[in-house]
Amino acid sequence: MIEISLHIIDMVQNAIAANAKDIEVIIEENTKNNILKLEIKDDGYGLNKHEVKKVQDPFFTTKVDKKVGLGIPLLKQMCILCGGQFTIESRKGKGTKIIAQFEKNSIDLPPMGDIETTILILLLSCENTDIKFTYTIDGKIFEISSKGLKEILGEIPFSNPEVIKFLKKYIKEKIKTGGVK
Ligand SMILES: Nc1ncnc2c1ncn2[C@@H]1O[C@H](COP(=O)(O)OP(=O)(O)OP(=O)(O)O)[C@@H](O)[C@H]1O
Ligand SMILES: [Mg+2]
Repeated sequence: MIEISLHIIDMVQNAIAANAKDIEVIIEENTKNNILKLEIKDDGYGLNKHEVKKVQDPFFTTKVDKKVGLGIPLLKQMCILCGGQFTIESRKGKGTKIIAQFEKNSIDLPPMGDIETTILILLLSCENTDIKFTYTIDGKIFEISSKGLKEILGEIPFSNPEVIKFLKKYIKEKIKTGGVK
């Protein structure tokens, strides 16, 4: 069972590989509507209609060192198993939007995993890409973006150990309470 956080890392890696300059990750948990929804949007090189179909097939990859690409098919399979749905919208040269929706109370739903570390790692790894996370739990919204962080940190690099320590605690707290940065 692959944790939801690892699926998020995979989708963001796909967006980075597609030369995205702007990535948006929206995670929404709604207990009342029994929904967990992930949305990953990028402005990378995009896919045509034919490719959108193909990438949902486990035997398709553009990675040169691999024979199969499993990220998208595994996420799609998990959505369907959990009573949800999976969609890819993409336009060549414009970008891609992936929506993965699960029934929140499905017994097959994998654990979220270490989402604060996931968000932190993705923020730290996106040096040339702007990435923004919005995590909503039952109406409580937490937002953090690499642009926002750069403005606050100024000359201090993301990789500064004090910054990393602070951010990990900050993200963990704010996911629970909501807050915007
Ligand atoms: N956001 C995206 N923009 C453009 N192309 C994409 C995007 N996401 C996936 N693709 C294309 O779909 C292919 C399949 O993606 P998928 O994540 O399923 O496998 P992979 O990334 O090739 O390998 P794996 O994730 O198993 O390491 C990629 O090789 C890439 O060509
Ligand atoms: Mg992938």
